[in-house]
Amino acid sequence: RKTLNIGLYGFGCVGFGLYEVLQKTPGLKANIKNICVKDKNKPREIGSENFTFDKNDILNDDEINVVVELIDDADAAFEIVSEALKRGKAVVSANKKMIAEHFTELLELQEKHNVPLLYEAAACASIPIIRNLEEYYDNDLLESIEGIVNGSTNYILTKTFAENLSYDDALKQAQDLGFAESNPILDTGGFDAKYKLQILLAHSFGYIAKPADLFNIGIDNIGPLELKYAKEKGLKIKLIAQAFKGSKGELSAFVIPKFVSSEERLFNVDDVFNGVLTKTSFADTQFFVGRGAGAHPTASAVLSDISALSYDYRYEYKKINQKENLVLSDDVNLSV
Ligand code: HSE
Repeated sequence: RKTLNIGLYGFGCVGFGLYEVLQKTPGLKANIKNICVKDKNKPREIGSENFTFDKNDILNDDEINVVVELIDDADAAFEIVSEALKRGKAVVSANKKMIAEHFTELLELQEKHNVPLLYEAAACASIPIIRNLEEYYDNDLLESIEGIVNGSTNYILTKTFAENLSYDDALKQAQDLGFAESNPILDTGGFDAKYKLQILLAHSFGYIAKPADLFNIGIDNIGPLELKYAKEKGLKIKLIAQAFKGSKGELSAFVIPKFVSSEERLFNVDDVFNGVLTKTSFADTQFFVGRGAGAHPTASAVLSDISALSYDYRYEYKKINQKENLVLSDDVNLSV
């Protein structure tokens, strides 16, 4: 296994989480050589000698062979990640917005410069869903994928429903716990879930969608009436991301809040947990559950990617390369 010298961008909730997780993983030959942050005045958990404020310090350092990108700003992240790939550095990122918006360009960069980009943490945090989609479903082809892929909204829905917390208090808690995006509309408007669905679509059906292609509604219009209805009927409301193939091979994919009954597996996926159901011809239904946000659960997925780089793992994008020529349907089939 290779020794990995990491240049880390970002030292927020997940960045510091990764620092702690790596400290507790002495067996892995990976060390953080430099950390680039934006804010010079922010008090930090570790000494200032660990930080740089110039992004080129990492990019220009030939000893750094892995860039881990954990910053908030998708545009700045794309600049860093594309530059790192151009310089032949392997990259790990958790930035779902950046990956969803630039999927094709990132694919081309990986191919052209023959370097891997891994992003398990970008979809469903601790659930190893991308790796499973990449590795498992070679012949038993997927018919549908459906799930709760945003931790903050699931947390808010759980707290407002079960504990009668107000929407604003529940959102505040999700922010304080480090689950929410710094612009929480990305969570509550269903955009974060859509970016994750885009990533899952590419790895499950090989379809590369643009954010504008997919319909999304969030949870911000759910009011007391809907909650009352759900309670009376023994239902829960969940924000569901869904993709499935129709009988003519057309693909439907969207994010929408739904009533879920107690017989459905996603019913008991509460708080910050995410859950993903896959359906295939042979395996029938499979169910993946795990924490969908938070410092250490997200860092665990980043750690897994870093570890995978030490044995030169890369995504083969098998489904994309199989070229099924799926067509995205305009219909949002709410009955499914
Ligand atoms: N804001 C995201 C969520 C973080 O709540 O799911 C993890 O991607």
